[in-house]
Amino acid sequence: MDILLTGGTGLIGRALCRALRNEGHSLTVFSRQPETVAVKCGAGVLALRSLDDWRPERHFDAVVNLAGEPIVDAAWTEKRKQVLRDSRIVLTEKLVACIAQAERKPAVLLSGSAIGYYGGRGDMELNETSGPGTDFPARLCVDWEAAAIEAEKYGVRVCLLRTGLILSSDGGLLARMLPPFRLGLGARLGDGKQWMSWIHIDDYVQRVLRLLQDAQLSGAFNMTSPKPVTNAEFTRTLAAVLRRPAPFSAPAFLLKQVMGERAGLVLEGQRVLPVRMEAAGAHCRYPDLEAALRAVLA
Ligand SMILES: NC(=O)c1ccc[n+]([C@@H]2O[C@H](COP(=O)([O-])OP(=O)(O)OC[C@H]3O[C@@H](n4cnc5c(N)ncnc54)[C@H](OP(=O)(O)O)[C@@H]3O)[C@@H](O)[C@H]2O)c1
Repeated sequence: MDILLTGGTGLIGRALCRALRNEGHSLTVFSRQPETVAVKCGAGVLALRSLDDWRPERHFDAVVNLAGEPIVDAAWTEKRKQVLRDSRIVLTEKLVACIAQAERKPAVLLSGSAIGYYGGRGDMELNETSGPGTDFPARLCVDWEAAAIEAEKYGVRVCLLRTGLILSSDGGLLARMLPPFRLGLGARLGDGKQWMSWIHIDDYVQRVLRLLQDAQLSGAFNMTSPKPVTNAEFTRTLAAVLRRPAPFSAPAFLLKQVMGERAGLVLEGQRVLPVRMEAAGAHCRYPDLEAALRAVLA
């Protein structure tokens, strides 16, 4: 397949590009730093500097849309919230406008979303039919998905990737957690009862490959392992795998003071189940957290 990716230079995108190249697909990556594409995504991967450069006569078989400014890195001022929205929603709207103009449409658009779609929902088990939350991340995901689903108007199959916490040795959540945990300073966050719905990067990539190929699959998919854990269990398991103690807990009030509204990302969780992927027979190689962490950290 000839595939266009946005966000192809990111944590998920780089792993996906590796797998897609291994399968022999031709890749073009939209990036604000096109000169870095070959280095990050592999030799032979083409770079697209601007979506305006996607001419109507240029055909792609598939589009994978993962671009988005990092959500945890900076305080959620109104200006930052707009940047987070523009980098996902406005970009997706532009992408769909390009699809609308394409002389031959791609068969499929896989577009990013996140388990933040569901908002903070305590112990409730969530599947793809569960309704959205109302906080900022939830509204971001709702609007991001709505922008992508517009591509269906042009006969494109659309899959929405409700992405969980990615476990990878290449960055993301673990890169933030490992330094304190390695020093024996790992800490449960708040009361530790909030759920963490995670997935090993290899399982994520395998599921994306399946969604690209399987014309029967469309709509929203929870991209998580079938066994989410509480933050307390995640903390215990990571500490055990690293053979370090994690005796501390970071009080919720302190996290709220330091992180402001973003504290919801770590103090509230979602207990998400990948019902539709499992129903499609796309099972995880690493359903259990301990084995997933051991594989990532090996
Ligand atoms: N990693 C996770 O645990 C996780 C969990 C849930 C959801 N997600 C979502 O999944 C997507 C990919 O995640 P990731 O971890 O791979 O992200 P990442 O490593 O932060 O990479 C983000 C990518 O988005 C592109 N990007 C950022 N801001 C942009 C902008 N203003 N305009 C155009 N492109 C922009 C970057 O491309 P250039 O810098 O090359 O332009 C980069 O390739 C993100 O949207 C993220 O919110 C990730």
